[in-house]
Amino acid sequence: TIVIVCCTVIAYLLGSIPTALWYGEAYFGLDIRKHGSGNAGATNTFRVLGKRAGTIVLLIDAIKGWIATSIAMMLYYSHLIDWNDCETLKLIFGFAAVLGHVFPAFSNFKGGKGVATLLGMVMSVHAEAALVCMVIFFLVFLASNYVSLGSIIASLAFPVLLVLKTFGNENDLNIIFGFALFLMVAVTHRKNIVRLLKGEESRIYFRPKKK
Ligand code: G3P
Repeated sequence: TIVIVCCTVIAYLLGSIPTALWYGEAYFGLDIRKHGSGNAGATNTFRVLGKRAGTIVLLIDAIKGWIATSIAMMLYYSHLIDWNDCETLKLIFGFAAVLGHVFPAFSNFKGGKGVATLLGMVMSVHAEAALVCMVIFFLVFLASNYVSLGSIIASLAFPVLLVLKTFGNENDLNIIFGFALFLMVAVTHRKNIVRLLKGEESRIYFRPKKK
């Protein structure tokens, strides 16, 4: 048990690494939380600091979620836990990393909205579902140019796809965690939801708009 508690804390601390904030400070000398949407995440980095910076932050934030779940695999391969426990711990460590990303210990508990780290976690927990969710994200994003709308719908799609048994029978815990994570994404996007409803959400264009 003590090993599991320590690993959960490590996963949380890993998620707490404020990539967008540190990247902005190190390479651009600015606090990303004072620009654009004010969010310390990949989307706002893309918006404020450009494609290259946004992509790097997205990758690192996703890798945090992926590594957190890999801690469970390490325990399994060290014969400390069995496969069932490994599946459960992947969810717990992944969730801890997403929580760390949203409430980071290293930057006053003011972090991002959890989506990139959630993606990394889901890639490891259920790769097929993660790929379908990414396609859904891109379709919504390309159709609307709202990253937030794509994030919200894609994170809801994950548990819904599992409930519909799209990929065969599912582990109930994946479904429960999927809905819990969706709820968290809905809460972190509450201001985006208000802006979307008012038609005031900022759009992001991959290519500059033709004049
Ligand atoms: O993942 C975050 C994204 O969905 C919204 O970010 O900066 O537009 O609030 P932002």
